[in-house]
Amino acid sequence: MDIDAVIKRNPVIPVVVLDDAKDAGALADALLAGGITTAEVTFRTTAAASAIAQMSQHSDILVGAGTVTNLDQARTAVDSGAKYLVMPGYNQDIVDYCQANKVPVLPGATDASWLMKALNSGLRYVKFFPAEASGGLPVISALSGPFPQMQFVPTGGISIENLAQYLAHPQVAACGGSWIATRQLIAQGDFSEITARAAATLEIAATR
Ligand code: 3PG
Repeated sequence: MDIDAVIKRNPVIPVVVLDDAKDAGALADALLAGGITTAEVTFRTTAAASAIAQMSQHSDILVGAGTVTNLDQARTAVDSGAKYLVMPGYNQDIVDYCQANKVPVLPGATDASWLMKALNSGLRYVKFFPAEASGGLPVISALSGPFPQMQFVPTGGISIENLAQYLAHPQVAACGGSWIATRQLIAQGDFSEITARAAATLEIAATR
């Protein structure tokens, strides 16, 4: 599988922060029950690697690793079972490692220089992060002019309110964000709310 297959199957990628790997299985079940078949488990807690391992063994959910900022994390994520890697910014070592190991990779890029780097490595998909703080849709539209071959995955400030607007853009392939499975909902064990948010999100994604 390459990153375009991951993104085509998943118009919305939940970005999750797990404080305790024991929640990984229930979170996967909650997302799947709402129709979402992937999760980006971020390396923002020490539970990340173990959460990725547990989630991958638990179900058919496609588990990615997020907030991957160095090569050690990239290797740990893949060894733990991550099927794709997401970075908040651009790191050539991680891109090279992923390409050498055939791991789908989504680097972050919000300006022309980083888009040129991504293109020079043969990448056609980037995470546009932090989307709203970086100027949102007007900036994506401006960058789409010189980069018609690039597809964006805006993340950061996306919510159920602005999702439809982002997904309607011809160069937005998918959106990511934490609103479906917030850290708080996971910590509280409110998995039925996560299922409800997943289903409501997919309803919006289906209208594009
Ligand atoms: C990410 O890492 O992709 C972001 O932290 C998600 O941003 P959000 O919390 O605004 O959705």
